Amino acid sequence: MSKDLDIPFRGIVEQSLAGIYVIQDEVFVYVNATFSGMLGYTPEEMTGMHLRQAVVPELQDETIRNFHRRVSGEVPSIRYTTVGKHKLGFPVTLDVHGSNLQYRGQPAVVGVGVNISEQVLQQEELRISRERLRELAEYINTAREEQRTRIARELHDVVGGMLTSMKLDVQRIARKTENPQLKNIVADLLALAQESIDTVRSISEDLRPGVLDHLGLPAALRAALRQFSERTEIASELTVEDFDEVVSQPRETAVYRICQEALTNIAKHANATHVHVRLYTIDRQLKLEIKDNGRGISNSTPTGKSIGLLSMAERARELGGSLTVERGERGGACLQMSIPLEERHD
Ligand SMILES: Nc1ncnc2c1ncn2[C@@H]1O[C@H](COP(=O)(O)OP(=O)(O)O)[C@@H](O)[C@H]1O
Ligand SMILES: [Mg+2]
Repeated sequence: MSKDLDIPFRGIVEQSLAGIYVIQDEVFVYVNATFSGMLGYTPEEMTGMHLRQAVVPELQDETIRNFHRRVSGEVPSIRYTTVGKHKLGFPVTLDVHGSNLQYRGQPAVVGVGVNISEQVLQQEELRISRERLRELAEYINTAREEQRTRIARELHDVVGGMLTSMKLDVQRIARKTENPQLKNIVADLLALAQESIDTVRSISEDLRPGVLDHLGLPAALRAALRQFSERTEIASELTVEDFDEVVSQPRETAVYRICQEALTNIAKHANATHVHVRLYTIDRQLKLEIKDNGRGISNSTPTGKSIGLLSMAERARELGGSLTVERGERGGACLQMSIPLEERHD
């Protein structure tokens, strides 16, 4: 039946990779094989079919309304996503673009349709896997923090305590002996015990900085930067301005950890000679900015590519904030973090 219709450019239309259709009086008067194929029909089966039959039930009324809006010329053309109904009953997501025109003296809608089910599915899968990745990063952050705190405490309290007892006992031996040979050994032992105590303290401090708990965030950052500069010979500068002292512990920990990871990245990747860390509060937001003068980073908001960047962004996100790492105006990398000072109670 459709073969008799005077479809312009028939060859092109019939071989088109896009679905093409003409609807008149709510009925398909022409479809090419691509369009009918998307819904599982032959062009012959679909020609003469009512428009309602081609879409899922919940979209039928809207589809008919859209058809009449175009036929009446109220809107000359509409592009939208709709869900067609396959011959076998399953939904097919279509991107359609229909315009009104006169066909054999009567108003009609001619349209182009593309099957985007695959894209929609892929987008959904992508969204789900991004979400999973975020959950994983959140879990890793929490687990790591708990583990670090626990190990730091055990190391400090238990191992540190044992070493201190050892040291005291060795001191007692030192006091009781006159034997010069034994005195030498005891002196060596004492030095070793003291070195062990210092090592345990510095490891547990690294794991869970006590200075963060005792002296607060600015002091902890200052200590971390001093250590960083000593180790890497990269000059560092800390600016703390308009800093609201009342920052909750999870926020302090997050900022500290973010700064630690950023400094590690600078040491590892940046080839920088200088780093500037700024900490301030503005409009009830806690801000951290870390700029280096190294080789820079391609503009990016942390995605699934890099676990370090993702984990930093996740720490900020968990507290209702955001974090980006971009190329600085004068080269280098620039990290910007912003976290609201108060919990949001939506
Ligand atoms: N300050 C920086 N300067 C230059 N490149 C950086 C900087 N920070 C991060 N990068 C780049 O971003 C990548 C991802 O960082 P990250 O997620 O921490 O992973 P990792 O440090 O394990 O490589 C790094 O491999 C590096 O190429
Ligand atoms: Mg890293």
